[in-house]
Amino acid sequence: MSIAASHIHHVAVIGAGTIGASWTAYFLSRGLEVTVSDPSAGAPDLVKRTIESAWPVLQRLGAVADAKPDAWRFEKDPVQAVAGVEFVQESAPERYEIKQALLPSIAAVLPQEVVIASSSSGLLISRLSEGCRFSGRCVIGHPFNPPHVIPLVEVVGGPTASPQAIASAMAFYRAIGKYPIEIRKEVPGHVANRLQAAMWREAVHLVAMGVASAADVDAAIAEGPGLRWALMGPHLTFHLAGGEGGIEHFMDHLVPAMRGWWADLGTPDLDVGAQKMLIDGVKEEAGDRSIADLAARRDEFLTRLLGLKRSLQATRPLASDAEPVAYR
Ligand SMILES: NC(=O)c1ccc[n+]([C@@H]2O[C@H](COP(=O)([O-])OP(=O)(O)OC[C@H]3O[C@@H](n4cnc5c(N)ncnc54)[C@H](O)[C@@H]3O)[C@@H](O)[C@H]2O)c1
Repeated sequence: MSIAASHIHHVAVIGAGTIGASWTAYFLSRGLEVTVSDPSAGAPDLVKRTIESAWPVLQRLGAVADAKPDAWRFEKDPVQAVAGVEFVQESAPERYEIKQALLPSIAAVLPQEVVIASSSSGLLISRLSEGCRFSGRCVIGHPFNPPHVIPLVEVVGGPTASPQAIASAMAFYRAIGKYPIEIRKEVPGHVANRLQAAMWREAVHLVAMGVASAADVDAAIAEGPGLRWALMGPHLTFHLAGGEGGIEHFMDHLVPAMRGWWADLGTPDLDVGAQKMLIDGVKEEAGDRSIADLAARRDEFLTRLLGLKRSLQATRPLASDAEPVAYR
């Protein structure tokens, strides 16, 4: 038994750093009530600042009409914070020992039908849910930074979650305008972070080998294939690389070359020297642009890009496009 998405009105956000604060802003924009918990004295202020800076972006992304930026309260004790909620989004630090102490304490006081979703970037849900009452209701609900902007949420049940809990988390995220995908087997890093890790490993290798500067490796993505990837993933992209013959022709034509490149890919160990090379390269690339400036530019770009994707889906829909979001 799980709670239907339409009956989820009150959510607990447990752990309110970068990700929990952003989740809070997003949940509020979907008209949900949020109780936030975090042991840090600075957490309420971070949440307040995050909501304030995210709210204009969330209005552009499609906040519901009656969304209230102040429909949240802070409760330091996580066990008290989950009282009466219908969904829990845990975003505590990425360490087994922290989450394995936290999750059983909140699971102990929650009815079986309340799903507990962990934002974990790569830990295994079968280990995180150890010792939880009704461990079958624990899933991974992994967002991408910043969760109030990026639609993807990876839902992982692993060998321990119940099919109902997975379905319930998928339905909830979909109902609030996210793009959940179900990861069928648990693996460290889930899917998207493994893809990022594979790409970054080679990016590091190329800089460490002196093949190109950090800035030029970044440009090789941001001014090249990265532009396509915002619309199509690597598989569909290569369907088009095969021309009219599609993926079959791509296999005949380019796979032999790809095999050769795969055999030559690097495995850098990111030792101190390689780290320094990258740090210097990235600082040179960033120049006088602050982290805040870069993040603001990223969020502005992403907001416009999401608007573009939505308008493309509306004006030139494909049969396979996702169903329109069922806004509450
Ligand atoms: N930063 C990212 O890009 C990113 C992206 C997706 C998912 N995540 C995941 O989200 C989770 C949180 O990451 P973050 O980047 O927000 O980290 P963070 O360090 O910014 O925030 C963690 C928060 O947890 C609080 N905390 C510490 N101990 C706690 C406890 N026992 N119970 C509850 N809260 C506690 C801290 O005070 C802090 O506010 C991690 O599992 C991480 O893997 C991070």
